[in-house]
Amino acid sequence: MRQDGDVTDRDAIPLALASMRKQYRAEGLSEPELAATPFEQFARWFKQAATDGGLFEPNAMVVSTADAEGRPSSRTVLLKHFDERGFVFYTNYGSRKGRELDANPYVSLLFPWHPMARQVIVRGTARRTGRDETAAYFRTRPHGSQLGAWASAQSSVVGSRDELDAAYAGLAARYPEGEQVPVPPHWGGFRVVPRTVEFWQGRENRLHDRLCYTAAEDGGGWRVERLSP
Ligand SMILES: Cc1cc2nc3c(=O)[nH]c(=O)nc-3n(C[C@H](O)[C@H](O)[C@H](O)COP(=O)(O)O)c2cc1C
Repeated sequence: MRQDGDVTDRDAIPLALASMRKQYRAEGLSEPELAATPFEQFARWFKQAATDGGLFEPNAMVVSTADAEGRPSSRTVLLKHFDERGFVFYTNYGSRKGRELDANPYVSLLFPWHPMARQVIVRGTARRTGRDETAAYFRTRPHGSQLGAWASAQSSVVGSRDELDAAYAGLAARYPEGEQVPVPPHWGGFRVVPRTVEFWQGRENRLHDRLCYTAAEDGGGWRVERLSP
C-alpha cells in the first residue's frame, strides 16, 4: 500500500510541469497586416483555425462571467455565429452563466488555439438574442439536442443519471423524431458585443505578439495597441 512519503510517478508530475514549455516559432502578427476591424481579423484567424489549425473544435471558447459580487466562473461553450454585431452562443438562461450574465453583463471569451500558438480574447457585454433569432437557430439543432435543452435544468443538482435519462425518455415519447419541438422559454442565445479584442501570437523567447483592438467610445472605429508580452 502507498504511504505518505513514497515517491511515485504521480508525485513527479508537478516537477515535470515546471519544466514543460514549448518554443513557439510561428510567424508573427504585425500591425500592417491587421484587418481594419477585429471582426475581419477574427474571421481570418478563425478560417485558418477551422481549416488547418489542427483543432478538434475551433469554435470552442472559454466564457468567463462574474456574479453581482464580482466572483468569477468559467466554462467552455461553442461559438455559433459571429458578425459585426458580436459573438453568439446558446445556453440555458437559468444556468449559472445565464443568471450571472443577467445580473452582470460583463463577460470574457477566450479561444485557446494552442496548436497554432494563438489565443483570442474578447471582452465586452452580453445581451440576450431576440426570440426569432433563437428560434431560427434552435430549428437547426438535431432533434436529440432540442430535447436535451428541455430535459436539463442546467447547473442545478440532479438526483442521478437515471433521473436525467428518464426526463429525456419522457420528452422523446412526447415529441418523436419528425415532430416539432417547441423552443424552451428558458433557453436561448447571448450576443457578446466586444469592447476589446486581443489577438495573441506565440513567438520565440516569450516575446509574443499581442495586438489589441479597443472600440472608440463614440462607436466610431477601433484603436489598435501592442501590449507587452
Ligand atoms: C466543448 C464543449 C462545448 C460546450 N458547449 C456548450 C454550449 O454551447 N452551451 C452550453 O450551455 N454549454 C456548453 N458546454 C457545457 C458548459 O461547459 C457547462 O458545463 C454548462 O454550460 C453549464 O455551465 P454553468 O453551470 O457555468 O452555467 C460545453 C462544454 C464543452 C466541454
